Amino acid sequence: MREQWDSRTAFVLAAIGSAIGLGNVWRFPYICFKYGGGAFLIPYFVALLTAGIPLMILEFSLGHKMASGAPTSFAKAGRGKEWIGWFALLVAFGIVSYYAVIMGWCFNYFGYSFNLSWGDATKDFFYNKFLTISEGPFKFGGIKPFIMLTLFISWIAIVGCVWRGPKTVSKVVYVTVLLPWLILIIFVIRGLTLPGAVKGLSYYLTPNFAALRDIEVWRNAYGQVFYSLSIGFGIMIAYASYLPKKSDIVSNALIISLADAGTAFFAGLAVFSTLGYYSYTQGVAVPDVVEKSIGLAFIVYPTIINLLPFAGKLFGALFFLMLLTLAIDSAFSLMEAGMAGIMDKWKVKKRWAINIGFGAIAFFAGIIYTTRAGLYWIDIVDHFMQNFGLMTVVLVECIFLGYMFKLSVLKEHCNALSDIRVGKWWDICIKFITPLVLILLLVFLIIEKIKGAYGGYSRGAEFLGGWLILIVFFIISIVLMKVRSRK
Ligand code: PFF
Repeated sequence: MREQWDSRTAFVLAAIGSAIGLGNVWRFPYICFKYGGGAFLIPYFVALLTAGIPLMILEFSLGHKMASGAPTSFAKAGRGKEWIGWFALLVAFGIVSYYAVIMGWCFNYFGYSFNLSWGDATKDFFYNKFLTISEGPFKFGGIKPFIMLTLFISWIAIVGCVWRGPKTVSKVVYVTVLLPWLILIIFVIRGLTLPGAVKGLSYYLTPNFAALRDIEVWRNAYGQVFYSLSIGFGIMIAYASYLPKKSDIVSNALIISLADAGTAFFAGLAVFSTLGYYSYTQGVAVPDVVEKSIGLAFIVYPTIINLLPFAGKLFGALFFLMLLTLAIDSAFSLMEAGMAGIMDKWKVKKRWAINIGFGAIAFFAGIIYTTRAGLYWIDIVDHFMQNFGLMTVVLVECIFLGYMFKLSVLKEHCNALSDIRVGKWWDICIKFITPLVLILLLVFLIIEKIKGAYGGYSRGAEFLGGWLILIVFFIISIVLMKVRSRK
């Protein structure tokens, strides 16, 4: 029999653990700041309601009904569709390859907290002392040994956590999900009581209706919702496959999605109130106080830590420990999903060998990000995995399950188990709204890419960090589908 979760709470916590991660505390505030604060929030919540939640229900229903990881679930749903599951897992692999590096940064910052080594100039520290960032993506400038070491530690930690499968996961998540909330609350309180906080908050919370015309804002909102909910990663399909026969799908999906969005919103309060404080001390408007870079969190949170009235070092250390606990259950959820994909297709006895193999490959893939040019590569890969990778997976998922498969089969399965039943609106979201919006966003993205490379990088860097990876992933997915299963 398939392994199962210890309890419903364990499943909900594990799925929340996968969803809530660096995506909420590090990525959401940065993307939200980059795309205009209040201008971003409306598209974000629209995307959550019309695509995020419906797709979470879809992925849970598929995984539960087929009782398999992503590749086999798609294979059972239709001939020749197994590649969708593999492709999802590979895109997620692309994400976790740099995600573990950011976990490594957290390990470093955890160490720095003990004597607040970043000083007052947190921005200068991050770019010039910690990363010693080079001038461009091809100026590698050698590996940063400490970052590589912490990347290694991250992988040891991730592999350690999944050692025995869902049973271990069930226990670890109690700590990794509940502890972070406590610390985040302290940070938000400090942020909100800083002078100038109101300015930052009004930038964060005042809707900007003019920005709703900006396609880029919408695209990032959809992408961020998928990223944050771990949708299109193949993870939620695998996790749902471990649920007992009688499990309420809709309410689980709602709890998980809302907890995830709530955490991101909450982390935003801490970050934006601090941006308001920067604006107050520097006399510069909020949008211009600091670069809109993926390093934002590592500049802003240390500032909050500096400003804590007491026990700053302790809370600093706890905060980075919290980021680590948040990240770790996201990263291992992907390993679990990969493992489910492999185990369903091939009879593998040595689970440990796959775990170590996965960790080792991901570690080596991550070395490029530990060079002095690492930040640029994280930026490019992150952009492509979110914008093309996840969005394509979700689009294909909607088209395939919505049109080439009987969506009603999944709907009936889900409604037979759930207290809250999904209605017509769900079909409309899966069949029409989400695919249409995604097609539109992708068409605009392609036009944008024809005009110029992402973020002002060279075409070469964009090709290597973006297109090439996606093409290779696609080919591997087809190959994996074609390899005969051995069961
Ligand atoms: N949902 C995760 C987050 O928001 O941090 C994203 C994630 C990244 C999940 C990497 C899984 C993963 F391996």
